[in-house]
Formats: sequence, C-alpha cells, structure tokens
Amino acid sequence: MIFLGIETSCDETALALIQERRILAQCLYSQTQEHQAYGGVVPNIAAHAHIHHLPSMARQLLTPFGVEKIGGIAVTAGPGLVGGLLVGALFAKGLALSLGKPLWGIHHLEAHGLMARMTEEIPFPYLLLLLSGGHCQLVLMQALGHYRILGETLDDAVGECLDKVARCLGLGYPGGPIIERLALQGDPHSIALPVPLQKDIGYHFSFSGLKTACFQWIKAQPTPLSEGQKADFCASLQRVIADSLCARLAYALQHTPVATCVVSGGVAANRYFYHRLKEVAAGVRLVTPPVAYCTDNAVMVAWAGYERARQGISPYMHFAVQARWSLEECR
Ligand code: KG4
Ligand code: ZN
Repeated sequence: MIFLGIETSCDETALALIQERRILAQCLYSQTQEHQAYGGVVPNIAAHAHIHHLPSMARQLLTPFGVEKIGGIAVTAGPGLVGGLLVGALFAKGLALSLGKPLWGIHHLEAHGLMARMTEEIPFPYLLLLLSGGHCQLVLMQALGHYRILGETLDDAVGECLDKVARCLGLGYPGGPIIERLALQGDPHSIALPVPLQKDIGYHFSFSGLKTACFQWIKAQPTPLSEGQKADFCASLQRVIADSLCARLAYALQHTPVATCVVSGGVAANRYFYHRLKEVAAGVRLVTPPVAYCTDNAVMVAWAGYERARQGISPYMHFAVQARWSLEECR
C-alpha cells in the first residue's frame, strides 16, 4: 500500500510517498529563512508559509507519480502550532475527499517514535527517548497506540534550551545543529555549567535552570565572545546536557528493562549526544533514525499512517487538530 504523508506542525512543510519501507519520493521545505530574524518559530508566519508552499509542493510530488496509486493519506493532527496543523489537516481532508482515499490523523510524537521501525526491525516493547524542540520525554512504547509516559521535562524541552541559548549567543536558528558544529572545536570541560537535576535522578528532565545559567554566564562576560570561547561554551553546554540525558537513560534502563531503546526527535540528530547515550546503553540496542529522519519530516508521518493501516486501525476523516495532545491519549 502506498502512503502519502503530510507534515505541517511546526516550521517544516513536508510531503512524502512511501511504499512500506521504501521511500518513493519526498519534498521538504524548511522555513528557516522566514524565522531566522526572530530567533525562533513565529506561529503566524509558519502558518502562512505552509499555505503558500503546500499546494505547489503537493503538485510537484504527485503529478509525476499519479494520485490514483495512493492507498492512504496520513497527516499530522497534533501536537504543534495550531495554524500549521489546520493548514495540513484541511489540505489532507480535501485531498482525501476529492480522491476518495482513506485518511489518518497522526500524532506527531508517535511518528517520531515509530520512525526507527521503518528503517530497522524493532519489536514492541521498547523505550523511546524523545528529544525535540517542543518535547523531552521517556516513553514506554508498549504496542501501536499504547504508550506510557515514564517521565518528561518539568519545564523547557532540550531543543528549546539549545535554540534559546544559541539565540542569546547570536548564532542563528535553529540553534541545535549550529551548537553541535561549533562544539566540535571546543573543550567540553572548559566552562562550569550546572548539570540539570544532578542530584535528583529519575525519569524527569529540566532544562530551564541550565538555560538561565547560560544566559547569566554569557551576560557576565566583559567582552564579546571570541570564536574559541563560543566553541568552548557550546562544547560545555552539550556535555552537561549529555550528562543529564545519560543519567536519565541509565535510570530508565535500570527500572524499565527493555531490549531496545530508540532515541528520536530533532535533537537525536546530534552525534555527540548519540555517542554519549550509546555508552550508557551498552547492554541494550540503541537505535536512532537516520539523521534526516530525526528532524521533522513527512516520511515518519506516512510510516505512522501505514503502521496504523496494517494494524487494521480504521481511517477517520472527522478528527480535530490538537495543539496539545498527550502520547498516552493517542490510540
Ligand atoms: O523534532 P524537531 O525537528 O521539531 C519538533 O518537533 O520540535 O526538533 C527540532 C529541534 C530544534 O530545537 C533543533 O535545534 C534541534 O531539534 N536540532 C538539533 C540538531 N538538529 C536539530 N539539536 C542538536 N543537534 C542537532 N544536530
Ligand atoms: Zn518533531
């Protein structure tokens, strides 16, 4: 069965066609330029950009392929920015109605969490460490549609912390990949930053205290940072974040034994974090989707739709989009 996936929940406008594990075609437009000047995603601008780009991208993807071959359509229904979600969902509903195709509304975090099952054989149950711009969670993926959140961030998500610190340093948006690149030249032990929740190890995360400590350190510097200082700062920031993530992953693996752990979401694209987490997860299989499929994309949405269809979960046209939506409520 060939699936069309549509993703518009944040600042990526993306469409993809997959046939089971094979990617037939895809197009992705990152709205980085639209939001660059603001140092973060502006919801209204994102929604307008989706309206602008989605129809022409759909035409470009579907015309050479032929719409009649599509078996099902999957679109992100939440969580995310409501304007973008509405654009994607209405577009998908219109397409599904006019073509007479079944439609599934997909939970964005479920799509991140299932993505690794497209590229590798990963049976349920498994542990998901979800690290994105808006979420930071440890989830027990018990079966399709049955997810238990073991812990999540008490305040900021890890990607949010990276983006805001990068903005404070004047590095641009999105901050995560820029910080990763700069950190390669820096010394991770050069600047003393607090390790989040160092004495309170459990399933929960917290990154706002670290973010504030970063702001204070940057403000306290008497002169603008040199390139070398920026690199040292980025490397030190990544180290304390990794210390915190590793402690939580070790705790989770001890208290919730599983054979496989999937690390997914935009921040999972970070190779330093991946290697640090891999050290902690020595006794289990640690899997990350290919880097291009860690960050937001439509392949993961199409795959989540396909997983639902093959499990016999009925399509449904009448879903509402949800800006906030817990993974535990996604059936
Ligand atoms: O999953 P995602 O694309 O969107 C959300 O669902 O939030 O995640 C975006 C986040 C941003 O905060 C971005 O800075 C971060 O992922 N990110 C990275 C890297 N690539 C993207 N963080 C660290 N290292 C990277 N290479
Ligand atoms: Zn995402």
